[in-house]
Amino acid sequence: MQRSDINNQQDVRDLVDAFYRKVLKDDLIAHFFTTVVQLDWEKHLPRIYAFWNSLLLPDGVYKGNAMGIHFELNEKSPMKAEHFERWLKLWRETVNEMFKGTNAENAISKAEQIAGLMNFKMNKQNTGKHIS
Ligand code: HEM
Repeated sequence: MQRSDINNQQDVRDLVDAFYRKVLKDDLIAHFFTTVVQLDWEKHLPRIYAFWNSLLLPDGVYKGNAMGIHFELNEKSPMKAEHFERWLKLWRETVNEMFKGTNAENAISKAEQIAGLMNFKMNKQNTGKHIS
């Protein structure tokens, strides 16, 4: 199949849905989404779509505090480097299987930046040096 770039909101939805199908089967990180937090997927998914729309498309609007939500998650169950590595591996795989182009590359590089910062902040929180 010829892969095209992430061009519109439907592409973002398809990408996020495929990513979560992998996440929910993953031995290392699925439990965050199923046990640590019992997600209401009808509320959660639109927020994730909005987040990626706002990062990748000109018309996206995300109003939320993505970092803050993970501080709360991290208090319930520590998020460690290995979890972030797995999250990123699944994200890279999903993007590369489905899309090709500048926005696909952006989706990966932005995730890498945010995951790197998140990992750093969660690690600080876990070692008692809270920064927001
Ligand atoms: C180990 C890695 C990660 C795990 C296990 C994880 C898990 C979760 C969980 C369980 C939630 C729902 C929390 C709740 O509603 O109470 C959530 C929300 C969210 N996550 Fe992550 N996450 C990870 C990394 C990331 C990264 C790297 C990004 C961004 C690139 C990200 C973006 C988001 C966003 C945008 C939300 C929704 C925030 C909102 O409701 O406004 N996550 N995450």
